[in-house]
Amino acid sequence: MKTYRVAALPGDGIGSEVVPAAIEVLEAAAALSGFRFAWEHFDWGSRHYLDAGRMMPEDALATLQPFDAIFFGAVGHPDVPDHVTLNGLLLPIRRGFDQYACIRPAVLHPGVRAPLAGKAPGSIDFVVVRENTEGEYAQVGGIVYPEAAHGVAVQSAVFTRHGTERIIRFAFELARGRGRKGLVTSVTKSNAQGFSMTFWDRVFAEVAADYPDLRTESLLVDAACMDLVRRPESFDVIVASNLFGDILTDLSAAVTGSLGLAPSANLNPTRRFPSMFEPVHGSAPDIAGRGIANPMAQMLSGVLMLDFLGEAEAARRVEGAVREALREGTGLTPDLGGTGTTRSATDAVLSRMAA
Ligand code: NAD
Ligand code: IPM
Ligand code: MN
Repeated sequence: MKTYRVAALPGDGIGSEVVPAAIEVLEAAAALSGFRFAWEHFDWGSRHYLDAGRMMPEDALATLQPFDAIFFGAVGHPDVPDHVTLNGLLLPIRRGFDQYACIRPAVLHPGVRAPLAGKAPGSIDFVVVRENTEGEYAQVGGIVYPEAAHGVAVQSAVFTRHGTERIIRFAFELARGRGRKGLVTSVTKSNAQGFSMTFWDRVFAEVAADYPDLRTESLLVDAACMDLVRRPESFDVIVASNLFGDILTDLSAAVTGSLGLAPSANLNPTRRFPSMFEPVHGSAPDIAGRGIANPMAQMLSGVLMLDFLGEAEAARRVEGAVREALREGTGLTPDLGGTGTTRSATDAVLSRMAA
C-alpha cells in the first residue's frame, strides 16, 4: 500500500492540541482512500529549548530531509523570546528547504459567520502567495551597542531577481490553474520603498507579459488592507513579499471568519526538499491547554498536504467533511461562536467523513 512518511512537529501551545486532532482526520481519510501515513513525531520546540538550549537538534534538517512532508503546528512560548523560537525552528526549515512559495487560501465557508455583512458562502475565495525565503525575513543586518544611547540596529530586506521572479511566476501559474477570475494582484509599497519594491514591480510587469490571458492589478499594501475588508470577493491570487504576505494573511483569515480556519503550505515546488504544512495561526498561549483550539486550520493544512502529495480524493474528503461540519454547526469551537472543544469539533469532522 502506498505509504507517506510524514514528520509531525506539533511544537508549542495549541500546536500540540490541533496536530493530533488533524492526524486523526487524515488517518481516517487515508483509510477510506486506500493509502497509509507513517508518522514520526518530533518534540522539538520551546520545551526542547528550555531543556536542551536549542529549539531543534543541530542536524534537524538532515533528519527531516528524507520525509515526504512535514506537518507542523506552531511555535512560540511566553518564557522564550519569539525571535529565538522562530529563528530556531520554523524559519530555518522554510529557508533551508527552499520552501519559497507560501500558499494561504482564504475561503468563506458555508455556515461561517464572517465579520463583514452580507457575504455569501463562497463569495470570498482567494489565495495569498507569500514569498517565503527572502525579502524582509532575510536576516541580514546587525546590532551594535544595543544598550547604549548610540545603539544602532539595521535590518535589510533582500530581493533577488531569482527569488522575486520565481514567486511571481508561481502566482501566475496558480491563477491560471485555478481557472477562476484569472486575476493576479501584486501588493507592494513602491511609493515608500523605492528600491526593493520598484524592483518587484519591474519583475511583476516582465512576468505578466508571459501571461496575456490573465489580468493584473497592483496595490499598495495599505490600500490592499482596506480592499481586503471593502471588496474581498474581488481577489483571486494575491502575490506579496514575505512580511506583507504575513500581515495580509491574518487579515484574510479574520475576514473569512477565524484564524482557526486558515491553512498554509510552505512549498518547495521543485520537490528537492520536503514541503511543510501548518496553519496560519501561532501557538495561541491565551487559550493553550484549555482544549478549545479550533483544529480546522490544521486539518485544512492537511488538505493542502494531501493535494501536494497527489492524494486529491482524500483531500476532497477532508475538505468536504470540514465544510459539512461548519455548515451543520454543532460542536464548533468558541472562535466560531460555538461552545464546543477541539475534541467535539474533531468528532464533528470525523462523523461527516464517515457519512
Ligand atoms: P496566534 O495566532 O497564536 O493567536 C492570535 C489570536 O487568535 C489569539 O487570541 C488566539 O487565541 C487566536 N487563535 C489562534 N489560533 C486559534 C485556533 N486554532 N483556535 C482558536 N483561536 C485561535 O498569534 P499571537 O498570539 O500573536 O502569537 C502567539 C505566539 O505564536 C507567539 O509566540 C508568536 O510568535 C507565535 N506564532 C507562531 C506561528 C507559527 O509557528 N507559525 C505563527 C504565528 C505566531
Ligand atoms: C506565520 C507567522 C510567522 C511568520 C512568525 C511566527 C515568524 O506569523 O507563519 O504567519 O511571520 O512567518
Ligand atoms: Mn503570521
